[in-house]
Amino acid sequence: MKRIYYIYFLLATISLANASNIDQSKFDLGKQVYEETCISCHGADGKAQTNMKFVVRPRDLTKTLLTEEQTYFITQNGAHYWGAKADMMPAFKYVYNETQLQAVAYYIHNHFNKNLKQRVKKVLQKCDLTSIKNDKKMAKWGKKVYKRNCSWCHGKTGHGDGEATKNPVDSIYPYDLTKTLLTKQQMFLYVKYGGHFWGTYKDDMPSWKKKYNDKILRSVVEYVDNTIRK
Ligand code: HEC
Ligand code: HEC
Repeated sequence: MKRIYYIYFLLATISLANASNIDQSKFDLGKQVYEETCISCHGADGKAQTNMKFVVRPRDLTKTLLTEEQTYFITQNGAHYWGAKADMMPAFKYVYNETQLQAVAYYIHNHFNKNLKQRVKKVLQKCDLTSIKNDKKMAKWGKKVYKRNCSWCHGKTGHGDGEATKNPVDSIYPYDLTKTLLTKQQMFLYVKYGGHFWGTYKDDMPSWKKKYNDKILRSVVEYVDNTIRK
């Protein structure tokens, strides 16, 4: 008898675990919001409408590096609030309530971007993550590499106003790094693999993995985190 109870208990927890995997009503609400609004720019498959002639095109949401929470933040206040130079990704807090915005972030992460964790894990496995803390030489490198490479687009103080943005013909929209919501690890992955790998349409933010090793790239990120966004 005891044994049977045990089996029942086991089955019950398994089915509970399965059921709690996905919150169907949240998912459905998110889908509804997505199909009402986001779909016009990000597309039915989340991979973005590439025929739109925006100065900055919508991103491929199957490749975004953002977590569900960060997706919510960007959707709530718009990308410009978090450093985007252009204002093409609107703030939706004036259109939807918090429950709807949380639901659409939930939908994106459980539908289009289900593999985010695995994807990040896979690339991190190939990275050198040994500590660089308190290494004066590395800190110096970070500053030097930023000045030499990044400031051309992101500007000396990181406000996204470098020389490259002053070309009126071929406009480029680097982020204001004082406002970025990316974690240090995300910044490192963004810098190493470049924007396109993480869902931008163009390749304006290049991949630096051929030019610098991981320690140096991480030291640039330390510099951005310590000095630019503080
Ligand atoms: C008018 C077109 C448009 C609509 C509508 C729109 N987006 Fe966007 N979205 C963009 C553009 C353009 C970007 C890229 C912004 C940039 O980098 O400057 C973007 C970026 C994003 C990002 C950031 C991705 C990343 O990896 O940084 C998220 C998340 C996002 N959109 C979610 C949504 C959601 C959710 C909706 C619906 C509520 C939505 N968008 C509706 C155009 C749009
Ligand atoms: C040729 C211009 C250019 C150069 C050089 C450049 N970037 Fe960028 N960067 C961009 C653009 C444009 C974006 C906006 C998103 C995109 O297009 O990928 C961006 C986005 C970023 C982001 C993402 C911010 C966010 O909140 O999503 C980080 C972090 C970043 N750059 C760091 C760096 C660092 C560090 C360097 C130097 C090693 C650098 N960039 C060099 C153009 C550049």
